[in-house]
Amino acid sequence: MVLKTRSELAIMDHANAIVQETLRMLAEHLRPGISTAELDRLAEEFILSKGARPAFKGYHGYPATLCTSVNDVIVHGIPSERCVLREGDIVSLDCGVVVEGFYGDGAVTLPVGQVSPNAWRLLQVTRECLERAVEEARPGRRLGDVSAAIQRHAEGAGFSVVREFVGHGIGRSLHEDPQVANYGIPGTGPELRPGLVLAIEPMVNEGGPGVRVDPDGWTARTEDGKLSAHFEFSVAVTDDGPWVLGMGS
Ligand code: MF3
Ligand code: CO
Repeated sequence: MVLKTRSELAIMDHANAIVQETLRMLAEHLRPGISTAELDRLAEEFILSKGARPAFKGYHGYPATLCTSVNDVIVHGIPSERCVLREGDIVSLDCGVVVEGFYGDGAVTLPVGQVSPNAWRLLQVTRECLERAVEEARPGRRLGDVSAAIQRHAEGAGFSVVREFVGHGIGRSLHEDPQVANYGIPGTGPELRPGLVLAIEPMVNEGGPGVRVDPDGWTARTEDGKLSAHFEFSVAVTDDGPWVLGMGS
């Protein structure tokens, strides 16, 4: 596990500030009738205008700036002109950037117009899973505490967590050790140390935990066709507690 210095964390804070600004900009454009390809163009143009570079484009051949995952798509939905958002959809917008050799990574799932009460509750619970996991990102806690916080809250609400995809360490690479599972046992796993940065990303399904990947090799969907939500922050472990990078504090 690579530990970052204060000045490296400052660069990662900047990278993640661009991620968060991008996500806020996209939220303002989100409405029924917009395509996910249009959101992707807006994101790429915005990121480049900030002097950063999209991190996902070209990563293992991924073709776009964003992952746009609609309804039953869990993660890694590829933006498309044919994917036009409709009232009642939920869409995960996942964005990564590189600044001065350091990565930022973050995601939100947003409602398009009015959504069903069930969809709304899924978004709320998944956001809370991330908040609870962040609270565990402290020196002396263990990785299993972070993972267990996600699982406990999601399953306590009657939802399930995805096992095939995980959060990750982040720094000079998009994916560093350790893997941050969305399920786990408190008090187990490596101890968290100051300078560690984790991209924590709960993926919570309304129904069962099963996953199926489309023939495109990317688009990961729920097996049962029910909804899935996904939120992600890059979080630094510091002596002062969890530092959610890019949130302007
Ligand atoms: N937030 C996701 C991750 O960290 C997005 C990666 S998409 C990819 O894995 F295309 F870059 F793989
Ligand atoms: Co990530």
